[in-house]
Parts: sequence; C-alpha cells; structure tokens
Amino acid sequence: MNELENKNVLICVTGGIATFKIVEVASRLKKLGANVRVVMTKAATEFVSPRTFQEITRNTVAVEMFKDAADFNVAHITLANFADVVLIAPATANFLAKAAHGIADDLLTTTILATVAPLIVAPSMNTNMFENPATQENLKILANRGVKIIEPATGELACGISGKGRLPEPEDICEEIVKFFAAKKDLRGKKILVTAGGTVEPIDPVRYIGNRSSGRMGYEVARAARNHGAEVILISGRSDLEPPANVKFVRVETAEQMRLSILDEYSAVDAVVMTAAVSDYRVKHFSTQKIKKSAQSIILELVKNPDILKELGNLKKSQILVGFAAETENVINYARGKLVEKNLDFIVANDVSAEGAGFSVDTNIISIIYRDGKMENFPKMTKAELAEKIIHRLTNFLDARFSGQ
Ligand code: CTP
Repeated sequence: MNELENKNVLICVTGGIATFKIVEVASRLKKLGANVRVVMTKAATEFVSPRTFQEITRNTVAVEMFKDAADFNVAHITLANFADVVLIAPATANFLAKAAHGIADDLLTTTILATVAPLIVAPSMNTNMFENPATQENLKILANRGVKIIEPATGELACGISGKGRLPEPEDICEEIVKFFAAKKDLRGKKILVTAGGTVEPIDPVRYIGNRSSGRMGYEVARAARNHGAEVILISGRSDLEPPANVKFVRVETAEQMRLSILDEYSAVDAVVMTAAVSDYRVKHFSTQKIKKSAQSIILELVKNPDILKELGNLKKSQILVGFAAETENVINYARGKLVEKNLDFIVANDVSAEGAGFSVDTNIISIIYRDGKMENFPKMTKAELAEKIIHRLTNFLDARFSGQ
C-alpha cells in the first residue's frame, strides 16, 4: 500500500474546472505514503480553497510569491528542491505556453523553472484550445525536453461540448506517479550510441542521392535510452525531427562522416543501436560544378560505401551491437544473414513495404532475431513503444555482460 513512502511529490495546481479533481489526487498520493506539497496559481484558488489542500496534505499551501511562505524570498527554491517529481494538474493552455517558453511570473511557474525534478503534466482544457497548433507546439516543446505528458481523456467537457481535453481520473493520474517511481533507471552509468536518419551522398553542389528514412525509429530509441538513465549519443543523418533533449547530438551528411563520428565514440560506448539508413553507394566522381542537362542521358558511376556496422562488428570488444534490417522480401532470412555477417548481438527486422511499417509512419512491425536462432515477433506498435522493447532487450544483454554470463 505504501508504494510512495518517503517520496516527495509537489503538485502544481493551475486554474481550471477540473481543479477539484486534484483534491482527490492529493488525498490518494498521501494514502500511498507520499509527502505532498501543493502550489496553486491565484486562478486555481477560485475553484478550490488552499485550505482544502492544506488539510489533506498537512502542509502549508503556497500561492503568492511574496506572501505565503515564511521564508518568502526563497519559497520557490525550497519547493523546487523538495520535489522528487512535480505533477502539474490540471495544466491550462496558459501554463503550457509559459512552461514551454520559460516564463516565470508567479510562484508556480517560478518553481517549475527552478526545479531539476522531472515534470509530469496533465493538460485539461476545451478541445479547440487543446487542438490549437499553439498548444500542440508547446506540448511538443515540453515533451522534447523530457516532460511526461498525460494525454487528456475524451468525453463531455464543462463547456458543453464533447471532445478531447478532459482531465483523466484521479486514479489514473496517481498511477502515472506510481509508475514514475517504479520505472527503473536501469541504464544509469551506461553509454549508448544511436544512429538515425538517412545519409546522403552528393552528386554535385545541388543534387544528392538520399533515401526515405525519417529518423523516427532512431530518435525514439535515443529518447527511450535517455529515459532509462543512459548517457546517449545520437548521430543523425538527414531527418526533420527535433532531437530529444539531454542527448549528445551529432549531425552528419554522408556515410563516411557517419562512420568517422561513430569511430570517434566507439571505444567508450557500451552499446550501439544502428537504425540509420546508410547509403550503400556514393558517386565515384563528385562534380564540383552543377551538372548541366546538355546530354540526352548520363551515367553516374557509383562506388561502394564502407559497411559501418560490419566494421564495428570486426572491431567489437565488449560492446553490444544492435542492427536493423529494412527489407521488402525474405525479411527474416536476409536479417539473419546480416546478424551473422556483421557480428551483431541482435537484429531488428522489418518489412518496410508492409502497411503500418517502415518510413514516415508512426508505427512499425518488427521481429527481433538473436544469435541463438530465437526470434520474437511484435504486433504493430508505435515507434516509441517499439523503442522501449528494443531498449529492454538491450538492457538484458548489458546486464548479462556485466554479470559475466
Ligand atoms: N549499415 C551500415 N553501413 C552500411 C549499410 C548498412 O552500417 N553501409 C547498417 C544499417 O544501419 C543497419 C544494417 O547495417 O543497421 C543493415 O542495413 P540494411 O540497409 O538493411 O542492409 P545492408 O547491409 O545495406 O544490405 P542490403 O542493402 O543489401 O540489404
């Protein structure tokens, strides 16, 4: 029952019709054993009295920057340091905008800026406000910084319409807090190199050979590894995605640049997850001037690029190597061949021609193949979910390596 014993939860309450639900959240967290403190915006006090939270948490509730706390000039620092985790619920559109842009104009937002504790945000508002591109952009900014967003539920809203924007039920919010503390930082102390995106090979100053990789799978793997506590290096070819926060990010263009960047880091990392779509060929003669369209046909001679992963397999000491196999036919057989040829620990195979898999979609359908011949098949999942699976399997390998199995 006391799953949250000795855990310090700071609840930041902003003003919305769902504010009343947070009373139950605070009460449940207390019952689970947490030390709970509450900060409210002035608007929130229009919906619930600070006294209610005070009675439930048995702690003073902070509202105003220069009034409530005895030690007023450092109240935000005291609260910021208290928190093992900060829950912002309900989070209004206004709060999301401020948090995304570092605005600190009251005690609550100042505390958010001053804390290094992880943030869990539960937005709640009218559907149109939630779906407004401004709000969506702000949520994206926060998520990229590693803030956990609890998706609002769909249902009847206070404004009379039905749609997305409802605050999830108190038990679901508390579940997220419990999950947060239960999540293992099982990759703490490990250094993981992830590659992503497609490399491009220039033909002349304006043209290149490229591929359709979006980089999404690799960016999700990097994000998952970071969330599990690893130090992450993300080496990325072309991708339009925003790199996850708190990872070392290296941008490259060509296969050779990617190879050199990887080799720079390789001896010091515990594992490499190679999701990048590396160009297998480059043009033999790069034209320093733009090629003119005078000829009826032209032939571009291509020469082979180095197989980076194969080289890593040859140089391998104790690193765990994970490859990807993007196939359109004979998926499993080709992937098995690559697993052996490149001296990998496991390979993630996917049929890029299947619906809901491959490039530019949020989902993927993969199989993981191991050296002992075992194979796991996964149903269609989001790339974020699959990244979790891959990181979980990788963690097992790293644990086995460290325990000398
Ligand atoms: N890879 C690499 N260097 C290359 C080509 C591929 O490191 N020059 C890596 C990819 O990042 C991936 C794995 O090798 O993890 C398999 O890549 P894939 O494109 O599926 O296969 P290839 O080895 O290129 O073989 P083929 O194109 O013939 O399928």
